[in-house]
Amino acid sequence: QNQATWGGRFSAGPAELMLSFSESVSFDRRLAQFDIAGSKAHSAMLAHVGLITAKERNAIHRGLDAIGKEIAAGKFEWNTALEDVHMNIEQALTQRVPAAAKLHTARSRNDQVATDMRLFFKWACGEIDARLEEAQRALLALAELDGEVMIPGYTHLQRAQPVQVAHHLAAYLEMFERDRARFSGVAKHANWCPLGAGALAGTTLPIDREFTAKALGFVDERGRPRVTQNSMDTVADRDVFVEFATACALVGTHFSRLAEDLILWSSSEFKYIDLPDTFCTGSSLMPQKKNPDSCELLRGKAARLQGNLTTLLTMAKGLPLTYNRDLQEDKPPVFDSFDQTMMCLAVVAGTLTGARMRRESCARAVADPALLATDLADYLVENGVPFREAHHVVGAVVKLAETSGVPLDKLATADVQKIHPALKADWIDVFDLKRAAARRIGTGMPGPKQVKRQLARWRKHLA
Ligand code: ARG
Repeated sequence: QNQATWGGRFSAGPAELMLSFSESVSFDRRLAQFDIAGSKAHSAMLAHVGLITAKERNAIHRGLDAIGKEIAAGKFEWNTALEDVHMNIEQALTQRVPAAAKLHTARSRNDQVATDMRLFFKWACGEIDARLEEAQRALLALAELDGEVMIPGYTHLQRAQPVQVAHHLAAYLEMFERDRARFSGVAKHANWCPLGAGALAGTTLPIDREFTAKALGFVDERGRPRVTQNSMDTVADRDVFVEFATACALVGTHFSRLAEDLILWSSSEFKYIDLPDTFCTGSSLMPQKKNPDSCELLRGKAARLQGNLTTLLTMAKGLPLTYNRDLQEDKPPVFDSFDQTMMCLAVVAGTLTGARMRRESCARAVADPALLATDLADYLVENGVPFREAHHVVGAVVKLAETSGVPLDKLATADVQKIHPALKADWIDVFDLKRAAARRIGTGMPGPKQVKRQLARWRKHLA
């Protein structure tokens, strides 16, 4: 005789191997508090519609609260033979409260697990948002400390045009801000209550789905309950899982690019930044080494976040409606994405917080006059030369500098005038770095005033 909750029609229990193969309590136990909240709301609804008495509801609530406390205190005994978090809690409740036998009325683990996960997503998105804000604060702090330092901006990893470090760092403030909006969108998409969908086809019992939704906070801005609209979709749908993993993978892409910038900047070849000892490691062999391991791991974790997303997409793509046990595999990648994203964002903040720009080598790099070749083309445009022609002319000036082994701004005016007469005596003023920066006055440009305004905006936003 099978002792499992579903054992009525079985004459043999599951094999040992099947138990360890199919259990999920080892990872879904972290849903316990959401599962308890869901069961409390569900039993409140059952009492509200008269399927259980108020007394039974109260007993169930007291029992669930006690179990919740034991779990929080680490005193609850989890049993893998009971498969998952839902069965473990229900079983424990049954041992304490006779009314527990009525808790699963009009409910399936299929709508139950969908509810637990939606509650998890709403909570997790808020947690990640706080970490993203923390990372933004660290970016802003470094931008305010060392931000006026100029460095070459790059395209194709070739020196392109000069920018303030603050402008470069503020680019990541924008990325993280979009990430925050994305997580808030995921939380909104999670905000529909699955309970009442049953296994796939609802129930014949007179339940009140709206009541349950309200009790669990699945409501719109005006407090109206939001319940899912198709019972089959409800138990089969894993869209929010994919969306959450997507948002995590994209955060990962962002912090991976930041990490790559920091790795390059901290190399002897660039020497733009000194990363904090506390987030670097040494070599077991080479005594001189200080390696940017936190950044390299951030890059590596980004791959892992993408892997989790791929797992979820692949898992869902071939499944017939509705619930299939494959879907139990949806939780490890989601939890891993959450845990890793949380930790990575804290590491981003920690690494940035102790970092300092290396002013002398930044100044040396940005002194390269070729960085202002585009400004020279603009100068020609201002003197009436069409841009395409100006581009060509400056190209010839750059070539002359290169072939004669002279820096661009050290060429003789007479020589450049031979290339184009519009290059007047004041052509050389173009290479004044401060002046060049100050002329970039449009919205989103790296002029010092604009950058200052940008930082002020972020300071206010993050206050
Ligand atoms: N542990 C299961 C999961 O995570 C809960 C749902 C089980 N439903 C079922 N019909 N076996 O998916």
